[in-house]
Amino acid sequence: MWRAFFVTLILALTPHTILSVELRDLETVYEWKQMVYGFATEEDRQDAIDNDNLVPENATPIDVAVDYHSEKGTRVFTTTPRFTGGIPYTLAVVTNKTEDNGPVLLPYPDYSWHNSNGSNCDKITSVYRVAITECNQMILVDTGVIDEIQHCPPQLLVIDLNTDTLSHRYVFDPSIYIDVASRFITPIAIVNDPPPTGNCSKVQVYMADVLYHGLVVYNSELDTAWRIENRFMYPDPDYGLLSIADEKFFLMDGLFGLASDGEQLYFHPLSTIYEYAVPLSVINNRTIFEEDVEAVPLAFRRVGERSSSCAAQAMDSQNNLYFVTFNPIKLTRWSPKKPYTPENELDIPADPQLIEFVSGMKVHKNKAGIEELWMTSNRFQQIARGTLDFSEVNFRLLRRPLDDIQNQSTSDESQSDSGSSSDESQSDSVSSSDESQSESESSSDES
Ligand SMILES: *[C@@H]1O[C@H](CO)[C@@H](O)[C@H](O)[C@H]1NC(C)=O
Ligand SMILES: *[C@@H]1O[C@H](CO)[C@@H](O)[C@H](O)[C@H]1NC(C)=O
Ligand SMILES: *[C@@H]1O[C@H](CO)[C@@H](O)[C@H](O)[C@H]1NC(C)=O
Ligand SMILES: *[C@@H]1O[C@H](CO)[C@@H](O)[C@H](O)[C@H]1NC(C)=O
Ligand SMILES: *[C@@H]1O[C@H](CO)[C@@H](O)[C@H](O)[C@H]1NC(C)=O
Repeated sequence: MWRAFFVTLILALTPHTILSVELRDLETVYEWKQMVYGFATEEDRQDAIDNDNLVPENATPIDVAVDYHSEKGTRVFTTTPRFTGGIPYTLAVVTNKTEDNGPVLLPYPDYSWHNSNGSNCDKITSVYRVAITECNQMILVDTGVIDEIQHCPPQLLVIDLNTDTLSHRYVFDPSIYIDVASRFITPIAIVNDPPPTGNCSKVQVYMADVLYHGLVVYNSELDTAWRIENRFMYPDPDYGLLSIADEKFFLMDGLFGLASDGEQLYFHPLSTIYEYAVPLSVINNRTIFEEDVEAVPLAFRRVGERSSSCAAQAMDSQNNLYFVTFNPIKLTRWSPKKPYTPENELDIPADPQLIEFVSGMKVHKNKAGIEELWMTSNRFQQIARGTLDFSEVNFRLLRRPLDDIQNQSTSDESQSDSGSSSDESQSDSVSSSDESQSESESSSDES
């Protein structure tokens, strides 16, 4: 409320107030105290129980993706990776049926796809995040790992959302990953032949290897992938202790958040406050990295510094970069034509309690053609410290249409920025209790 009040005041006092920021609230589309796994048949449920794979308290949703399908209606997907056993399926569609703990999930594409004990590598073993392209393709990266055991090689699957069937599978070569040490967590896809003229046969997928510190590029035309490493993909020990909502924990995660404006790949490790970039023209060229995964180190640049670290990020079609900082918890935006500095972080009003650890973030265009920001929040600080309370809402899928803020021009922002900087910091100091955090700490290596 304070934040909303200040922003309103600032806009009112700014001489060139041609902004029409309506101060929309985030919409909580789905929320859970604990994940609720549903099944199409009683046989499927019994199979999960018989295999000790129905332990909902083990599940953490970490991603969200939305398919605004012209015929099938709107489908919202989420992922629950197999950090441990007890997860009956790792990729789900959210239904509108709700039980006490939250909405019921159903396995996607269906239960038979989910390889609950890692014994069949033709199925899906564990998925952190997915990407959906403008051609109704879902691109998912399966780590092949359950509970620190590499059951299967990592693989990239393309699912046709029109038919809900597999349209392509690419199994990564051992030269691209290290057993167990690698963890492919974040795919983003760029379609070079989008509809209506193209048919999405030229897709580049960029994937973050969060634990072995690298980037993997997949080219659908060549049906080949290559690996790239750079010092900016490593976690920085100075930012390995996180503080979120007054809880501290260690997390040394490397390359995590990816985004692109079609020219550059923007990226950051989780454990850092810096944003980096590399031209797509460099990383798209397999020849450069064939002999040396650490080639052309000078093509990678530091392009930004945040007020605090963050996990996921996403970019809209106007090249605004969105993310949620950890401490204080703020939904924030950087504009394309201004330096990526803490001063140029544009705060978007949002209740911090809704966005504790945003681990998944996407921009999707809805049926009306308006871009929407979608987020998954999961209070990972409580999972890491073992303080999660299943009587509270812990997991949320959130939405915010962007049409009111994404076209704010740079000059408008400079007006509101200059007017807001002192007021904003005051409102922060009024509302935050960051200095009184408990010193107890725990560690975790999940991503
Ligand atoms: C759930 O409800 C929303 C809004 O009523 C609708 O748009 C969506 O298609 C429904 N989803 C499913 C899977 O039925
Ligand atoms: C998982 O392993 C159990 C035995 O431990 C077996 O009965 C079951 O069929 C396996 N499930 C799958 C999907 O392979
Ligand atoms: C897509 O278009 C390309 C030409 O741009 C063509 O070679 C290819 O066969 C098409 N693929 C499909 C699945 O239609
Ligand atoms: C890729 O890199 C190689 C080696 O630097 C260079 O010779 C080649 O021209 C590049 N290819 C493209 C398409 O830029
Ligand atoms: C934002 O601007 C772009 C072009 O600059 C335009 O295509 C788009 O429709 C605008 N979006 C809104 C919500 O006004």
